[in-house]
Amino acid sequence: MPADSSGLSILGLKPPSPPVPSSAPDGSNASQPSPPPSTSIFGSLGDNPLFAGGLALGAMTAAFQLVRRTSTRALHLARRQLLVTVEIPSTDPSYEWFLHFLAESQRASASAGSYGTGVIPGYSLSALLSRFRPAPRELAVETRTTKLGSGAAAADFVLVPGQGKHIINYNSTLLQVARTRDPRRSNPSGLPFETVEITTLNSRRGVLYELLRESQQLALHRAEGKTTVYTSRGISWERFGNPQRKRPLESVILAPGVKEGVVKDLEDFLSSPAWYQDRGIPYRRGYLLYGPPGTGKTSFVKAVAGHLDYNICLINLSERGLTDDRLNYLLCNLPERSVALLEDVDAAFANRKQVGEDGYSGANVTFSGLLNALDGAASGEDRIIFLTTNHQERLDEALLRPGRVDLKVEIGWATPEVVDGMWQRFYGAGAFPQAEKLRVRFLQILTDGQLFEPGRHGVSTAELQGLFLFFKNDPEGVVGAAENMVLARKA
Ligand SMILES: Nc1ncnc2c1ncn2[C@@H]1O[C@H](COP(=O)(O)OP(=O)(O)OP(=O)(O)O)[C@@H](O)[C@H]1O
Ligand SMILES: [Mg+2]
Repeated sequence: MPADSSGLSILGLKPPSPPVPSSAPDGSNASQPSPPPSTSIFGSLGDNPLFAGGLALGAMTAAFQLVRRTSTRALHLARRQLLVTVEIPSTDPSYEWFLHFLAESQRASASAGSYGTGVIPGYSLSALLSRFRPAPRELAVETRTTKLGSGAAAADFVLVPGQGKHIINYNSTLLQVARTRDPRRSNPSGLPFETVEITTLNSRRGVLYELLRESQQLALHRAEGKTTVYTSRGISWERFGNPQRKRPLESVILAPGVKEGVVKDLEDFLSSPAWYQDRGIPYRRGYLLYGPPGTGKTSFVKAVAGHLDYNICLINLSERGLTDDRLNYLLCNLPERSVALLEDVDAAFANRKQVGEDGYSGANVTFSGLLNALDGAASGEDRIIFLTTNHQERLDEALLRPGRVDLKVEIGWATPEVVDGMWQRFYGAGAFPQAEKLRVRFLQILTDGQLFEPGRHGVSTAELQGLFLFFKNDPEGVVGAAENMVLARKA
C-alpha cells in the first residue's frame, strides 16, 4: 500500500522517507544528490502545494466573510439612517383601516387604468414616480357582501396585498409594505397574529402619518351614517357584518316622554365628564329597559346609538364560554364610541349554574361576576351600558342599584299614542282618503277590547307592525283584523 493509505497524504503530510540506499540495486553508483531532509514539520507543510492551496482558500473565505459581514453591517447602518419603518400589528385598529385603504386604492387605480386619470405627467421626480405605479403581485381576496333592497345579497371581491413584500406608490413616494403572519401566535380573537410593516425613506416619514390618517378617514367615511355592531370573540370585539344604516330615532315610537328622557339623560352624561371626575364618581352610566317582548327595547338602543353616533357592542350573557373575567375584560375594553348592550339579562341567571366550592361556575357568567363587571373594584370607566329584560321582577336588587343601573325605563305595551304614531307611519301622508276615520275606529276597537288597560296583556308594537305590514295598502283590512284580534283575546 502506498503512503496515501495512511490517510496523511490527504492533508498533504507524508510519512518520513525511508533511508536512501548508497548504491543502486544494479550495482551502479547513484551519485544523484538527494534533497536535504526537512528539518521541521512546518517546513514540510510549507512545501506542500495542497496545504498551501488550502491555506489560501481559507484566507479567501475569511476575507469574503469579513466583506460580507461588513457590508451587511453597513447596509443595516444605512438602513437605520436612511429608512424608517412603522409596524402595525393586527390587534391595532389601523391594521384593518390600512388594508382596506390599500384595497380601495388598488381598485381605484385598476378602474382608472395603470397610469391613472390620463393627465400627462411632466418631468419632475414626483411626476416620474406617479407614472411608475407598482402594484402588489401577491394578493389576498376579501369578499364583502352587500345587502340589496330585494333581500338578496351581492358579493364584491376586493384584492388586498397578501403575505410578503410589496412596493406601492403613495403620494409619489415609494413604500415597501411587508405583510407577515406568525402562525405560532394568535390574536385574542383566535385568528393568526399578523403585522404590516411599512418602510420608506426617513426624509419622507411624514407620508406615513398622511397614509394612516387617510386610511382612518376612509374608515370613518365608510361608517358615516351607519351603526357598527360588534360581538365578542374570545376577549376581543369583532365587527359583526357590515355597518348597518342608522335607525332614525323617529322610527321608534314609544309612549310620550320616554325617548326624550333617555336621550336627554345620555346627552347630559356625555357632556359632563369633568363633573364626574371632579367628584371622584366613576364616569359610566347604566340603563335598564324593561317590558314585554316586541315593544322596541332593542330598536330603541340601536336608534339612540345611531343618534349619538355611537356603535353597539352586543354581549350575550347566556353564551357558553363567557366567564366573569372575560366579561369584565370586554366591558373594560369597549371599542371607541360604543355602547354595550346586554340583552335579556334575566335569562342569564335563570339558567345559571351553581358556583362550586372552588368558585367555578361552569361555562357561564356568575351573578357576582356580572355585578363586579358593572360596578366593582376592577370595572372599567367611560362607558354606557344598556341592559334589557322582559322580566324586571326576576332581577336582583343588587343589580338594580344606582351605579349599576342609573335609570330604569319601562317600555310597555302600546299606548293609544303609540298606536296613533304607528298608524301615521303606515297610513299617514294622505295616501288613503279614509285613513283618519279608520284610525279612530281602530283605536276604539282596541280600547273596547281593554288592550290599553293597565296591568292587562296589551298589544305590542311588533304586533302592530306585523298587522300593518300585512295590510300595508288596505287600512280597512286592518280594522277587520283588529276586531278578530280582540275577539280572540276574549275567547
Ligand atoms: N316602539 C317601536 N317602534 C317602532 N318599531 C317597533 C317598536 N317596537 C317594536 N318595533 C318593531 O318590532 C320589531 C321587534 O322590536 P325589538 O326587537 O326592538 O323589540 P324588543 O322590545 O327588543 O323585543 P324583545 O323583548 O323580544 O327583545 C322590530 O322590527 C321593530 O322595528
Ligand atoms: Mg330585544
